[in-house]
Amino acid sequence: MNAATPLLELDKLAVSFDGHAAVHPIDLAIERGEMLALVGESGSGKSTIALATMGLLPSQARVQGAIRFEGQSLLGQREREWSALRGNRVSMIFQEPMTSLNPLQPVGRQVAEALTLHRPMSSQAARNAALELLDLVRLPEPSRRFDSYPHELSGGQRQRVMIAIAVACRPGLLIADEPTTALDVTIQAQILELIDSLRRELAMTVLLITHDLGVVSRWADRVIVMKDGAKVEEATSAALFAQPKQPYTRALLGASLHFGAGLHYSDTRLTEVHCEERRPSVDPSRVLLEAKDVCVDYRAVRAVDGVSFDVRAGETVGLVGESGCGKSSLSGALTRLIEPTRGSIVFDGEDVTHQSRHALRPYRRRVQMIFQDPYGSLNPRHTVERTLGLALSIHGVSARRERDAKIRRIVDAVGLPASALRR
Ligand SMILES: Nc1ncnc2c1ncn2[C@@H]1O[C@H](COP(=O)(O)OP(=O)(O)OP(=O)(O)O)[C@@H](O)[C@H]1O
Ligand SMILES: [Mg+2]
Repeated sequence: MNAATPLLELDKLAVSFDGHAAVHPIDLAIERGEMLALVGESGSGKSTIALATMGLLPSQARVQGAIRFEGQSLLGQREREWSALRGNRVSMIFQEPMTSLNPLQPVGRQVAEALTLHRPMSSQAARNAALELLDLVRLPEPSRRFDSYPHELSGGQRQRVMIAIAVACRPGLLIADEPTTALDVTIQAQILELIDSLRRELAMTVLLITHDLGVVSRWADRVIVMKDGAKVEEATSAALFAQPKQPYTRALLGASLHFGAGLHYSDTRLTEVHCEERRPSVDPSRVLLEAKDVCVDYRAVRAVDGVSFDVRAGETVGLVGESGCGKSSLSGALTRLIEPTRGSIVFDGEDVTHQSRHALRPYRRRVQMIFQDPYGSLNPRHTVERTLGLALSIHGVSARRERDAKIRRIVDAVGLPASALRR
């Protein structure tokens, strides 16, 4: 292999699932030491490319073309060969560290294991090396944190542990798939800063997957824009932001620069979501939800301290504040998933603060919540169709045909293809 060979090369890589193309034949090359960003709207095939490169696609995926790493062809390798590569020469960090770390093992041990998996060494040597890695990723007080469990760390600290695991064997390539989406803005910047400095300290190459164009312009050397499984545009970051060539890229930049927000939030599909049938006409003067002096306490900690506000019919109210200020505890109390210690919640004229589980039934149907982490909220063993079917039958839609028709309408309304029902 000569020095001119790119570190990673995708040669007409194509991936499909049950006859549906997720990635159309795509060419992509990453040079040593560079940070390449892959951007594009949800479902455009970014993670599929990452997983293909790691040999982590599910068995039903049909993969064609070639993937070469340091000139070596990866597709068609045996699982044993993939295992020797993964976490060693190529590593990946995921969006949600909580689902990737083992909840039952102290974090220090997980870092040590990432090392001993590929490098035989004594357990004392592994412990020392793991401590050095935790220090390298700037985890505060590494020796005290070594024996902590993942749930005892903050989101940003967990992501640092994930990065320590990923870089333990000094991989040539680090793939970071939305590494900061689950974190708040200040922590996001620290983590990206860390990834970028490790790139230089460890002479790594980084493939960064993100929907945040601000992140791209600040950190990436080069960008590939994807849409519907195909490459739309490829340029250096400087050129792309100065002079996007394709109308799609221009629309993307225009949409996200408006609010400085990520692509997912300006995704036009969101605004297309139309509401279910029999939508009553809304009277905007009517108070729908009334929170009065709501308090939530956890043992010695007061998480919500006497909050009062109204939400009128048809209104969207924003609840903002820094990490840990009590937003989720307050919404937990409003949905009665957490018992408030003081105050009252009145919905549509009815006090629901102390209602029994049984009496709450109609309330549960009318007040719904979407959680931060969809992975933690969806049962991985159920298809989309089953999950929706169960939600409808719990709320009394028992006739099969009515349920099926509703499921189809809902899936369409949120912009998913009908084929997603079987996934
Ligand atoms: N295991 C799977 N089985 C069937 N279809 C899949 C599977 N994984 C991904 N797909 C489909 O492949 C397409 C590309 O998905 P992919 O996860 O790569 O998108 P993405 O660009 O990473 O999106 P996001 O920004 O939402 O993470 C989508 O249509 C998706 O539904
Ligand atoms: Mg993805």
